[in-house]
Amino acid sequence: MKESTNQLLKPVTTKRNTAGNLEIGSCDLVELAEKYGTPLYVIDETTLRNICRDYKSAFSKYEKVNMMFASKSLCTMAISRILHQEGFGFDVVSAGEMFTVYKAGADMSKVLFNGNNKSFDELTLAILIGVGRISVDNFFELDLLNEVAKSHNKTVDILLRITPGIECHTHEYIQTGHLDSKFGFDLTQIDEAVELILNSYTNLKLHGLHAHIGSQIFETKVYHDEIEILVKEIARLDEKFNLKLDEINVGGGLGVKYTGSDCPPSTYQIADVIIKSLNESVEKYGIEPPSLFIEPGRSIISTCGVTLYTIGSSKQVPKGRRYVAVDGGMADNPRPSMYQAEYTAEIANKKEDAALQTVTIAGRFCESGDILIKDIELPEPEEGDILCVYNTGAYNYSMASNYNRVQKSQMVLVNNSKSDIIINRETLEDLISHDVIPDRLK
Ligand code: LLP
Repeated sequence: MKESTNQLLKPVTTKRNTAGNLEIGSCDLVELAEKYGTPLYVIDETTLRNICRDYKSAFSKYEKVNMMFASKSLCTMAISRILHQEGFGFDVVSAGEMFTVYKAGADMSKVLFNGNNKSFDELTLAILIGVGRISVDNFFELDLLNEVAKSHNKTVDILLRITPGIECHTHEYIQTGHLDSKFGFDLTQIDEAVELILNSYTNLKLHGLHAHIGSQIFETKVYHDEIEILVKEIARLDEKFNLKLDEINVGGGLGVKYTGSDCPPSTYQIADVIIKSLNESVEKYGIEPPSLFIEPGRSIISTCGVTLYTIGSSKQVPKGRRYVAVDGGMADNPRPSMYQAEYTAEIANKKEDAALQTVTIAGRFCESGDILIKDIELPEPEEGDILCVYNTGAYNYSMASNYNRVQKSQMVLVNNSKSDIIINRETLEDLISHDVIPDRLK
């Protein structure tokens, strides 16, 4: 079956140029590091547009399909603009994400607002800027949303987020579809929610069911099982309440290749399983084929991004590891310390054919756990070398912090020898711009 971009370790345009340096989007990474400084997030536009097209062509076999991008994986105005140009809607989970995609020109009717504790203000904003669907997560929110909708004299289009009870093999913190989860209605609570919507919440219109089973998923069967449960529930609700639901949203979750040993399925494999399961379940439970929504994040944006660091100090522990420190770490990429995530890297200015050393890449932050990559083989790393860490497009910038009061990194978009800043580096002034010294301390 055709390979898809999420199965690659590096952006599609990555190569060594004649100077021996790595380049992406025909931009020399060493020159980018010099021009913009490091740490630097680099996003390859070609890879991003390729993966969007992979997804669209993989799912084109199902007539009623709607692609959305999970903004939580990387939410910037330029990235949102590209996704919008590629025809994607957005899954957003906060006022900040909603506002970003809105300002980037997204079609708000193709936006879904998710989350397990949306606030009154966020629900109000969603209604005011015309978000297409709100996925209601719990009883409290049903009540709150109905009140907000009533006060604006609006009927709000909703989905119910359900917990299908599926365990997938991924890190415990990024599993979401299992029964003991903070997200969504338990299967046994759906009827009560539907009764409330039909009988009491006159400002809510239910269109379908939504689930998300986890992230960085390598199995395909879990999607098959998820869809069967969603379709079965839709058929059951029709039977019990004479309610025609015509939308199912299967969430995101497809994995990517962080290291050579990761083998994620392709978008084509996932699409085949989802579409086959949908067709079979529709037949089995006798419902009309619903509109299908999917909302991947990581598998769209992860491979497009790399982070460039400058190598600084280095330390050999007697009879122990050799630590090589870079000028970033857990504040620009918290994933290794949070989930023991593994990454692959190369030195941008040194070919792999030089003699290799085993080293551990340490971050610059004041925490022993700030290790970016354990025991990686690299050509002798020296001060001033540029380290390129692959697959940092998803959940790196979006989970970045200002730990140790270090400025967040800049992000550039590369394409056809051009590089454009899409996130400015924070300045020291930015860092203190929200600080206030009360008068009594003056
Ligand atoms: N839809 C819903 C409702 C979600 O909760 C998520 C991710 C997605 C879609 C997108 O999932 P993706 O295709 O990106 O796997 N910070 C973690 C990942 C948390 C994912 C949370 N939900 C990490 O860095 O691995």
